[in-house]
Amino acid sequence: MSQNIIIMGGGIVGLSCAYELRTRGFDVTVLEARRCGGQASGAAAGMLAPFSENIEGPDAFFKLCQNSLLLYPEWQEQIRTRSGVHFEYANTGSLYIAYHAADLLSLEGQQLWQRQYGSTGEIVSGAELFRMEPTLSRDVLAALYTPEESHIYAPDFIRALEQACRISGVYIEEEIGSAELVEWDRHVAVSVADGTVYYGDRLVASTGAWAGELTDQLGFSFPVYPIRGQICAYAEMQPRVNHMVFFNQGYLVAKANGTIVCGASEDVAGYDTSVTERGIERLRNWNKKVFPFLGGQLPFHSWAGLRPATQDGYPLIGPLEGAERILMAAGHYRNGILLSPVTAKLIADFIENRSVPSEVRGMFSPSRFANV
Ligand code: GLY
Repeated sequence: MSQNIIIMGGGIVGLSCAYELRTRGFDVTVLEARRCGGQASGAAAGMLAPFSENIEGPDAFFKLCQNSLLLYPEWQEQIRTRSGVHFEYANTGSLYIAYHAADLLSLEGQQLWQRQYGSTGEIVSGAELFRMEPTLSRDVLAALYTPEESHIYAPDFIRALEQACRISGVYIEEEIGSAELVEWDRHVAVSVADGTVYYGDRLVASTGAWAGELTDQLGFSFPVYPIRGQICAYAEMQPRVNHMVFFNQGYLVAKANGTIVCGASEDVAGYDTSVTERGIERLRNWNKKVFPFLGGQLPFHSWAGLRPATQDGYPLIGPLEGAERILMAAGHYRNGILLSPVTAKLIADFIENRSVPSEVRGMFSPSRFANV
């Protein structure tokens, strides 16, 4: 008999788990407090950049990110075909820029280990660099060019994913308001604000920065907290930017609709999603150092999202020891868009009792924080 799975949270991770589980034959219900993709997922710049976002070294987290990048071409194609919704998926590659010789040394170190892990990255400078990115500041000394990195337009991709879920038979309930886990022993039961109770065999919690709310209900401790990312976009303009550009204070991504998206702050501000003048001013100052043509421009749009951060920086993926019907798919911090396909496949593998790599069972186990 098919198992019934309840997914709490309709962000990119929750919807991806829903799609994968439905594809594998499960009955799936997604419960979303507000609107699908309304939080961190919809606010993201959509970068699929495991190399540029993990510059320290090839740990298990980097490998998880890289595995997910490798899943993306087929995953996004499935979502596109199933949903019929168009979204941008751009294989532009990235440039991680350096202004000084000391920064270039770090880039060379980065390039060295990343080439052993699937990157064909190379250091570019001078005429070659400015041919690739003609409007880049002439103060830039060199860049690490990583052709493997890409980006998607997150708001459209979430719409496509939601549509793919609905077409596949996932039941999605939005605007449910508060939800309480009232049973997780013989089955799971979730009671929502209007008094409706949803029953299932397993529950996947993918409530992003709100994942800690399960703490009280389960008596487990999940140190997940919100880190605000302020972001802004410049309106369509010439000249265009060809690559994603990373620097040690942020990033810029040119979208096919002509906008340039620039991020992002890392603020401790609780659940406050407002943007501050200081936050956007700081981004503007950096942006014009990277692309001087942005100097006179005002962003046409600025917004903020809440990244779900964990105490050790790693996500929570898998079942809870002592409450095996509950699985966590949360705490993806800066990498929710990138990690969504691999998370979906791992969660489905856990539910189907398939083999899951030992480092996932260890480093990413939600029980590493649990004090039962
Ligand atoms: N992944 C980009 C960010 O979190 O700002």
